[in-house]
Amino acid sequence: MDTPPFVPANPLPAPQPLHDPSAADISRIADALMRDAVAAAHGTMPPLPAEAPMAPPTFANPLPAHAPAAIPATAVPFAPATPLVAMPTTVPACSSASPGSPSAASPATDYSGLKAFVGHIRGLDHLQLPRVFDGGTPALTPSSSSTASSAIPATSGFLDIDAVRRDFPILREKVHGKPLAWFDNAATTQKPQAVIDALSHFYAHDNSNIHRGAHTLAARATDAYEHARQTIADFLGASSPDEIIYVRGCTEAINLCANILAPGLSRGDEIVLTELEHHANIVPWQMVAERTGAVIRVVPIDDRGDVILEAYAKLLSPLTKVVSISHASNSLGTIVPVELMTGMAKARGARVLVDGAQSVSHFPVDVRRIGCDFYVFSGHKIFGPTGIGAVFMTKEAQGTLPPWQGGGNMIKDVTFAHTTYAGPPAKFEAGTPNIADAIGLGAALDYVTALGRERLAAYEHELLHYATSRLTAIDGLRLVGTARDKVGVLSFVLPGIDPIEIGKALDREGLAVRAGHHCAQPSLRRYGLEATVRPSLAFYNTHGEIDRLADAVAAIARVK
Ligand SMILES: Cc1ncc(COP(=O)(O)O)c(C=O)c1O
Repeated sequence: MDTPPFVPANPLPAPQPLHDPSAADISRIADALMRDAVAAAHGTMPPLPAEAPMAPPTFANPLPAHAPAAIPATAVPFAPATPLVAMPTTVPACSSASPGSPSAASPATDYSGLKAFVGHIRGLDHLQLPRVFDGGTPALTPSSSSTASSAIPATSGFLDIDAVRRDFPILREKVHGKPLAWFDNAATTQKPQAVIDALSHFYAHDNSNIHRGAHTLAARATDAYEHARQTIADFLGASSPDEIIYVRGCTEAINLCANILAPGLSRGDEIVLTELEHHANIVPWQMVAERTGAVIRVVPIDDRGDVILEAYAKLLSPLTKVVSISHASNSLGTIVPVELMTGMAKARGARVLVDGAQSVSHFPVDVRRIGCDFYVFSGHKIFGPTGIGAVFMTKEAQGTLPPWQGGGNMIKDVTFAHTTYAGPPAKFEAGTPNIADAIGLGAALDYVTALGRERLAAYEHELLHYATSRLTAIDGLRLVGTARDKVGVLSFVLPGIDPIEIGKALDREGLAVRAGHHCAQPSLRRYGLEATVRPSLAFYNTHGEIDRLADAVAAIARVK
């Protein structure tokens, strides 16, 4: 396929070869920017000059004549999906830039774009949420007793939690005679009545296979199924429903992407993962590496659970062909700066996959802003059914990469001699899909959208603060995962007590938590652990439930 020309108003549509002069310029600028971004993210940025005037940089090897014309002459805030576009006007003169670099050639520059960019890539900054951890300790004062929460009304300025909870019939269940408190949301979430109704309505009224057939129910089923695809596209900020491919879930999604990327990999090519990854984002790449001779490189995390960006920057090279990273960790809760990391990988011409299993249910996601090739998630982790998930795949990647599974639905024409494939997304969807659950997933996303994703994120963030302060006040409790930006995952251990036993003891109180390795063994082994107890939050949890959890954990700790 021809490489499309560089279009400055958009992220690069395809990996750019590094020997291309314009791509080399872009890559140098990106490197300078990323060095500064990393420095700024770690608070080592030199002081910012006040209102520095803009000066156009000069290039040893200028961009093609059409490129600068599309770059605004005035400073514009960084839009993370377009870092490579904004760089020429905003690359700062950082001390680490080499003398011949574009930033050194432009000493008077405007840092506002970079500041906005760095702020933005810190995950939730655009929601203006306070950090849970500030310098490694909880930013909130721990409350000493469970009565603290009774002052917090169920309608706490964010949401009418009692009304929301009534939407989830399972939350009325009792376990061992106690009200169920569901703290296993990172494993799977509970389903609102709207999702249960969508599933039963489909089977009671519309059930049919889709696309083929001239009858009414086939049309109804097809409409509902394709409407859900549009809902997913809108939810992720994709530009078209054709960019959404249905899969069974995140695991199948990553296997799909690994398998269609495999033919493009050769011996010595590198696949970059982080130490945080779920096994679903490790094993498929290992299988592909075995087949192709590619090598897996791992970006380490620090003691808090943050990805070490300097190490990542060093790992990237022209050998990097794929970067596959979690948006949020299921074992530690870390929110990963995927926009920054994607920009850095794209500057090297690598494909980027972001695993959104633990992010889409916690905060708004915009795939175009991230700029990745693939974004994947599972329906059951976002209040939808099991057995359904989605891959966002850019049109460019869809057009370039081969299908994975063959069969019905993914073809245009078949003879025994030759098959031509359907256009995307059908090209990647062989066989009869999971129609009902796709419709159920659409209903789940509609439900979350109607409640307000930013409101949900803010409420959940407040819950995370509260739970962190309550748990860290317990004598001896070690919280594992104290990253700057976190989703509501609170992994912990108590000295000398098997996490599984803690999980069982909590279950006897009606408190459902996960205990084990959470399918992320490397991330726990980083801290010398094989297992933790992991309560994980969703917007239907309450301060009262957190009090029950903290009181029960404190009692277990005391008995020991
Ligand atoms: C970060 C992450 N990635 C991938 C997966 C796999 O998701 P699934 O089992 O729904 O395919 C999970 C599941 O816990 C996860 O937390």
